[in-house]
Amino acid sequence: MKKVILGSFALSFLLAGCIGTDNTRQPQDSPMNNGHMGGQDGRNQEGLNERGMGGMPGARMAGFVPSLESSEGIRELSIPPVLEKQQGQDFDYEVTAQQGTTEFFEGISTDTYGYNGDLLGPTLMLEEGERVDVKITNDLDEPTTFHWHGLEVPGEIDGGPHGIIQPGDSQIITLEADQPAATLWYHPHVHGTTAEQVFKGLSGMLLIGEASGSDSELPDEYGVDDIPLIFQDRLFDEDKQLNYRRLMNLDGTLGDISIVNGTINPKLTITEPVMRFRLLNGANARNYTFRLSNGANFTQIASDGGLLDEPVETDTLTLAASERAEILIDFSAMTKEESLAIINEEGTILLPFDVALADSPADSAELWTSEEPFLTQQEKTMPVSKEIELFGMADMVTINGRKFDMDRIDMRQEQGVTEVWEIYNRSDMMGGMSHPFHIHGTQFKIISRDGKEPEPNEQGLKDSVLVEPGERVKLLVTFPEKGVFVFHCHILEHEDNGMMGQVEVY
Ligand code: C2O
Ligand code: CU
Ligand code: CU
Repeated sequence: MKKVILGSFALSFLLAGCIGTDNTRQPQDSPMNNGHMGGQDGRNQEGLNERGMGGMPGARMAGFVPSLESSEGIRELSIPPVLEKQQGQDFDYEVTAQQGTTEFFEGISTDTYGYNGDLLGPTLMLEEGERVDVKITNDLDEPTTFHWHGLEVPGEIDGGPHGIIQPGDSQIITLEADQPAATLWYHPHVHGTTAEQVFKGLSGMLLIGEASGSDSELPDEYGVDDIPLIFQDRLFDEDKQLNYRRLMNLDGTLGDISIVNGTINPKLTITEPVMRFRLLNGANARNYTFRLSNGANFTQIASDGGLLDEPVETDTLTLAASERAEILIDFSAMTKEESLAIINEEGTILLPFDVALADSPADSAELWTSEEPFLTQQEKTMPVSKEIELFGMADMVTINGRKFDMDRIDMRQEQGVTEVWEIYNRSDMMGGMSHPFHIHGTQFKIISRDGKEPEPNEQGLKDSVLVEPGERVKLLVTFPEKGVFVFHCHILEHEDNGMMGQVEVY
């Protein structure tokens, strides 16, 4: 790793409103770049994909993204439990997809799906380099798969559309965390029903922690100063059910109810001065642009696949569906009277904090700076060898003009050999929409966006990247394992509608 640990780096200036680098990509001036245009069905989702920077051009096109309701801070945020290691079994962990019910609303029971429980799943924690056997079981009435999003595992156990586990079946697989510490996640991936299964509650966190003995001093006490935050939006019918078939939208199902770790109206009590949050955009389609309610800066330390090249001070962070980021927030300068919350761009309160610090001294965390460039000159100038064209909307979405076919290999790449993929989001006459593009089996680097080097908060390993209409994004892609892997738009309804292809790694 190209990391030099600097001396202790006091974080207390963060809330003092220090001016940070603006790490969000500036929108360009083209009206097309306004992210999004929906279909013609009047349920479009304009703004769905805007980057949320101030100064977005006003030219929103027709369509509608329901605003989220602010959290009233009524319930303590639920923290997904840590998945416990099995004793005396021939596997280390067990993950079961099952049906359940959840009381999102007082006194009302909503049918949901969960892993080892009623909703969402326990957090699977691996250490860098660790190998574990995991028993996966399908207790649902329908086929499912177990996909380890961001984990570089062989194609057979990646849990993509090929990895079907029939109702009642189990399988034991070996997962190896042969990659840097990172915030990953797991979810189902059945072609055609991924969106519905995720919508009903199937998602969990998969964390790779630094191997013991590493010199990182980042907060890492799970549930205490290291908190996973799964952001999702949900739409309920009049009976407060997650009636996907009725509520779904072909361009991405959006809701007006914000849930964080499955909790509606959450609040989080803060007991440590410096907190690390692992943010996952677990929504089917919605983009989130996060800020702090007092406008203060925070520090982004990691992207999808691990620590950034260098930490980034910012006051805004946009995550498209499936993207992750780790941030540090310093609460040490806050008085009891001040209030603070994570909000989204419109000012909706997503997660209010209740600061209850014991009289602890202002803390510090060790941050780093890199000595080598993020990309070498040679990497920056490698020729493009794979071209991907994203196109369309609703059920007319395609990649390179085609829809997903499980029996067709769209491209091949040699194991361990680095290639440059160029992802082009071709606009149509209506402007097109942004697509979060994801590749299985790899953590890539963004070489450039329309020829320009990525912003500092995208200078780290990634497995998903938001591509705006008309934009060309170059990626440096290496597959460490063999097998067939899918790549697709992570708007789950686009994925289910065939905006997906397959690469065979040989
Ligand atoms: Cu989050 Cu194909 O995956
Ligand atoms: Cu994935
Ligand atoms: Cu898409």
